[in-house]
Amino acid sequence: MKITVNGQEREAHAGESILDLCRREGIPIPTFCYHQAFGGQGACRMCMVEIKEDGQSRSRLVAACTYPLTKTAEIITESEQIQRIRRTIVMLLARRAGENPLLEELSRAYGAAHLPAITVEPANCILCGLCIHACAEMGRSAIWSMFRGVDKRIATPYDEASDDCMGCAACARVCPTQAIKVEEEDAVRKIWNKTFALVSCSRCGKYYATREELEYLSKHGDFGQQQLCETCRKKNLAYNIKTFQQ
Ligand code: SF4
Ligand code: FES
Repeated sequence: MKITVNGQEREAHAGESILDLCRREGIPIPTFCYHQAFGGQGACRMCMVEIKEDGQSRSRLVAACTYPLTKTAEIITESEQIQRIRRTIVMLLARRAGENPLLEELSRAYGAAHLPAITVEPANCILCGLCIHACAEMGRSAIWSMFRGVDKRIATPYDEASDDCMGCAACARVCPTQAIKVEEEDAVRKIWNKTFALVSCSRCGKYYATREELEYLSKHGDFGQQQLCETCRKKNLAYNIKTFQQ
């Protein structure tokens, strides 16, 4: 399917999102709430682009991360209107995370005006929702978006240690602004007001996961049973493949 992006013809797969096409073709579109593991959420609106599909007389604005390409279209990824939208989004998010390197860089790039800062925990959070998504994907849903407006923030219910949190830190790994605090010292990890004992890799001795996470994973497959860290698991796999091929 032929799609024109910024005046140049590209080949799209039917049903893929505008963002996927542009990423594949090396055309930059900024995103906050998209992650390649989960796809787009359409929440932050940072990826807005203009599209004029076959038969339409006027272009309209859509979120590139969730908009599927189903027919011939012309797409514009940079325009005055798009810049204005992105500048406003960056300006508002910089109130919550103005000192974060990502927001600092984007504020400069879009010429966003400086608004008075708002302090909301976790500091630096831009409410992209990726951590909530990651936690739900792990099958736990220990964290949620609480309150509304300027008070909106990500937290466990009542800010208490949640029985659902297994300390895997998947939320912290997907966070684009490193807003989620994970403290690790020796064999202990602290996250979301909860303390976990860490288990060491049976081969290299490195602390790599919480007991709760390994128990959960072993109940849902054999992933955690060998008690190997990711590096040793990969080495193990490579060794097994090599042995099998000999
Ligand atoms: S804590 Fe990080 S991942 Fe979660 S909503 Fe805030 S910025 Fe996004
Ligand atoms: S990245 Fe598309 S709406 Fe957030």
